[in-house]
Amino acid sequence: MRTADVVIIGSGIAALMAAEEICQSKNVILFTKKKIWDSNSMLAQGGIAAVMSDDDSWELHKQDTLEAGCNVNNIEAVEELVKNGTTSMKDLVSIGMEFDKDELGQFHLGREGAHRKNRILHSGGDATGKHLVETVFARIKEKITIIENEMVIDLIIQDGKCKGVYILNENGELESCFANTTLLATGGIGAMYQFSSNNKAITGDGIAMAYRAGCEMADLEFIQFHPTMLYINGACKGLVSEAVRGEGAFLVTKTGRRIMKGIHPFEDLAPRDVVSRAIFNEMQNGEEIYVSIEMIDGFEKRFPTITANLINNGIDLQKGLIPVVPGAHFHMGGVKTSANGETTIPGLYAVGEVACTGVHGANRLASNSLLEGIVFGKKVAKFIADLPLSKINENPPKYMIPRFRILPKKDEIKEIMMKYIGIVRNEEDLNKAITYFSYFLESKTVDSRPMNKEELERYNMLMTGKLIAEAAIRRKESIGSHFIEYIDQPANI
Ligand code: SIN
Repeated sequence: MRTADVVIIGSGIAALMAAEEICQSKNVILFTKKKIWDSNSMLAQGGIAAVMSDDDSWELHKQDTLEAGCNVNNIEAVEELVKNGTTSMKDLVSIGMEFDKDELGQFHLGREGAHRKNRILHSGGDATGKHLVETVFARIKEKITIIENEMVIDLIIQDGKCKGVYILNENGELESCFANTTLLATGGIGAMYQFSSNNKAITGDGIAMAYRAGCEMADLEFIQFHPTMLYINGACKGLVSEAVRGEGAFLVTKTGRRIMKGIHPFEDLAPRDVVSRAIFNEMQNGEEIYVSIEMIDGFEKRFPTITANLINNGIDLQKGLIPVVPGAHFHMGGVKTSANGETTIPGLYAVGEVACTGVHGANRLASNSLLEGIVFGKKVAKFIADLPLSKINENPPKYMIPRFRILPKKDEIKEIMMKYIGIVRNEEDLNKAITYFSYFLESKTVDSRPMNKEELERYNMLMTGKLIAEAAIRRKESIGSHFIEYIDQPANI
């Protein structure tokens, strides 16, 4: 039986930043169900939004964050985020993070949707997340215990408190790990959708296990669809960063019509929910949509990761057109937390995409997510590091791995999510989704054997999917990423 002062679940930037801070005073075990590199942070292309120039200010960054979020953000959380941007970037540079610079040796600041200023720091062109994760990981790998390929399947709840985690080890056996504090940093839900920018491991496990433990959730209906996934033969093949449009690219139909003209004053750099709906609408009318990149000099140098992916997928860059489709990208909702990461269960904390402080409102501003992981990862960790340690009680309550039941295949669940809880929603579809999820969740156990890792992921997907559909049906009005139309009253796309 393992014990730790603090257990962290997940390996994205919020988890690593928290681990770095906490391991200075407490022992930490970090669990990840795959490898340490299997996170969305590793895939983040665009960069990190922070105020770095004289003509910018945290007030402007705040304004852009609130406008993109449709002003339903938690204002204190937004201020915490944007006020800490500049210092956080300086801290990262001091630990060896290298951001791209211009010919004058100044940070090259890119632009993305809904930002009024150029404030996106990037690294390796479009490999910002990878460089960031590698930089922070190098500092902690010898200082914490890292356990890969073991899936945390549930939280140990005793006397109303979280006392650690149950794990399925590599051999599929049940283990437990007791801890004073448990920090959920499992990321979002993007891989629950057919079209997605996310790592395949991101199956909504954190929300499902927090829900089973009795945690309160918030804003689960707010799911951001990134406008531009590479789209080949009906399949989504990875992200085409918004930074591409930030360098001047725009969205066109096959005949070259610019689709964002007249839709929003920021045109191709409108907030993501607006751009995604515009593309969705065009595609519903039979159009194919492309990012036109021919005006970008040195595309390959500025965007090496995207270039490699395009070439791998047979796109001829000389033609200057990238076929795209919107895909699930980021969950603004999640496990409800305070700014210090406290959930509604004592002993359980959450940070990063799985958590909902309300900082992103109804639609996250581009490149605010790595910043969230950095700023709140550190803030929550400081809070946890200061908590007194108590004696660990190593007598777990009785627990059984959920037994096997009939489960649909992952691809089927992803199609249901896309079709019924996608970019444009209606009550009928949401009810269909709820009926579908309930059918499987309520079906009788058909086998006495415990579920394996892959089956538990599917079980978590069903549970999280149902919670999202229920939250979406409760919110009657369209706002930001939650767009609902009524048969007799179509919403104005
Ligand atoms: C992108 O590079 O377009 C994604 C960045 C983000 O989600 O903030």
